[in-house]
Amino acid sequence: MKQIILLFAVLLFSSVSWAHEQGDWILRAGAAMVDPNDDSDAIDVLGVVTLPGVDVGDDTQLGITGVYMVKPKFGIELLAATPFKHEITLSNLPVDAGDTKQLPPTLMLQYYPMDNGNKFQPYVGLGVNTTIFFEEDVDDELNLALDGIAGLPPGTVDADLSLKQSWGLSAQIGFDYMLNDNWLINGSIWYTDIDTEAKIKTALGTVKFDVEIDPWVYMLSVGYRF
Ligand code: NI
Repeated sequence: MKQIILLFAVLLFSSVSWAHEQGDWILRAGAAMVDPNDDSDAIDVLGVVTLPGVDVGDDTQLGITGVYMVKPKFGIELLAATPFKHEITLSNLPVDAGDTKQLPPTLMLQYYPMDNGNKFQPYVGLGVNTTIFFEEDVDDELNLALDGIAGLPPGTVDADLSLKQSWGLSAQIGFDYMLNDNWLINGSIWYTDIDTEAKIKTALGTVKFDVEIDPWVYMLSVGYRF
């Protein structure tokens, strides 16, 4: 009898603790995909020719989010990841322009509306992102195309690409599904405003143009609450 009462007490206790509480930490790790919804300015190549811009490919990496519950129902979340690598191609042309790596740390204020009785804990978030580009690379195909456009022997135009660090807003929806008091399954989607300026430096001059990457970021992860 004593054991049964104890069991009921445990069940009762565990059934009221699904929602995250003030002071909780939640660490989640999983697959994060950055899927650019990109739009690029046309590229005026030194007044010689106008190229239709660039397209930016997607990439999936290890994503990690950490949440601290600053108040009941309110958390602060930081998204971190291993570096994403994106292929860059010329729009409407079969030319590889290059590639870049980037890190997009994103800080969100989140609202978890559900009560303690729900294992399913959805949330919305609003915050700020900065995206740091590095190891930008120009593909030989673009160099050869630029040589051709300029009427120069192959290898003359040795382009150098750099992408400016971006700051922008980010909005998010997601959920935690509590498996027990500690472990959870998480799904999350961010829409992030990432606008950068691309600079292509060559021996003949420098070309600048704006690129909006504005990606959807999808993450599926396993989390632990403590
Ligand atoms: Ni934008």
